[in-house]
Amino acid sequence: MSEIKVKRLKKLQARLHVSGDKSISHRAAILAGFASGKTRINGFLNSEDCLNTLHAMQALGVETETLDETTFVLTGRSGNFLAPSEPLDCGNSGTSIRLLAGLLSGQSFDTRLFGDASLSKRPMKRIVEPLALMGGKITCEGSNLRPPLVVHGSPLRGISYQTPIPSAQLKSALLLAGLQAEGKTVIKESMHSRDHTERMLRHFHASTHQDDTEVTVYGGHTLHAQDIQVPGDFSSAAFWIVAAAAFPKSRITLSCVGLNPTRTGLLNVLMRMGAQITETVESNGFEPYGTLRIHEGGSLKATTVGGKEIPNVIDELPILAVAFALAEGTSVIKDAAELRVKETDRIAALAVNLRAFGVEVEETPDGLVVHGGKPLKAATVESFGDHRIAMAFTILGLFAEGTTVIQGTECIATSYPLFEKHLNHVVRGEMEKNPTGKI
Ligand code: S3P
Repeated sequence: MSEIKVKRLKKLQARLHVSGDKSISHRAAILAGFASGKTRINGFLNSEDCLNTLHAMQALGVETETLDETTFVLTGRSGNFLAPSEPLDCGNSGTSIRLLAGLLSGQSFDTRLFGDASLSKRPMKRIVEPLALMGGKITCEGSNLRPPLVVHGSPLRGISYQTPIPSAQLKSALLLAGLQAEGKTVIKESMHSRDHTERMLRHFHASTHQDDTEVTVYGGHTLHAQDIQVPGDFSSAAFWIVAAAAFPKSRITLSCVGLNPTRTGLLNVLMRMGAQITETVESNGFEPYGTLRIHEGGSLKATTVGGKEIPNVIDELPILAVAFALAEGTSVIKDAAELRVKETDRIAALAVNLRAFGVEVEETPDGLVVHGGKPLKAATVESFGDHRIAMAFTILGLFAEGTTVIQGTECIATSYPLFEKHLNHVVRGEMEKNPTGKI
């Protein structure tokens, strides 16, 4: 089992270029494979989760040329994949299994999708039921509609569907099925989840329409290959953003970070807590990206996060809970029951680990109450096999007296393989010399 050890940081000055966005990398591999023509993907996130999706596309007959570890050229199959000779391994990745289930529902063959122990516990009812309304047929081999899944490809028809939860994985599974369905598929969300699929569909000239409350995709149209520049992952940047917002006299610059507003809710929360953050958008292509500068941290005040804010901070709630532990006063996370069905039960994992550092916490069914601002003692804590829990508590260790040990850190490779390298830059006060990502 790997572990990370950290001590209290003395100074925080750094410049980093985080790796490619995980959500956008998954979608780039899938839509490039589905389109007609060759797509060059630059800045692909070379992490376990995204490589699972890329390998799945290869198993479905998509030719892939590797130019370097973050640059690939995919030759799309114009919507017609080949039946894979083996089941597709989605590893730890909920995005892989849910998006592939939608994509493969409209094909002419059966595919088995499976994953690791954590993925085998994640709910699939949310996609299985609406895909069935479209004529999709998915058998769940796990209990209570859990993976492994067997997707029996069949002809699909468009539907109009109001999602019961704001989930971009659900919305994207339906949009990918809708591309292959007869007629139009309309998806309504009461709260906006991340819109990377909609943006990339437009980039590939799909026939879509979007307004404030719904997105429509018209089936049976060809997607046209387009080169893709994947920006840096805001969710990876979030660990350094919080570290800098909470650390006195900090100065950090994060370049080429994705600044899609459906992802950057953390910035608004931190700013109302008193953080000093400057956001400069440098490109407004199909996904906006730019530079974030955070400075003079250290005097954060408590706040409450809930309601419509939750979908736009969903992956940042573990590191936000860490910010709450470092902020003066009582902070609350509410309306976030979805955290209980992520890579682990993140509410339970956060409560256990925060308490280990001496933080007073109350767990609620849909969130946490965190009494912050007290001195922290270093602790030995588990990752619970969850990358974001591992990274969030590594950051908390930078603020605790003594040596903190995070156990089970191999899971970080699912989303941010360069995390430890970047941590070393931050700990040594170095600027990153060889940024990857190539924007
Ligand atoms: C993702 C959507 C979110 C997020 C996950 C990535 C995506 O999940 O938590 O890390 O790429 O679509 P939900 O759709 O379950 O909210």
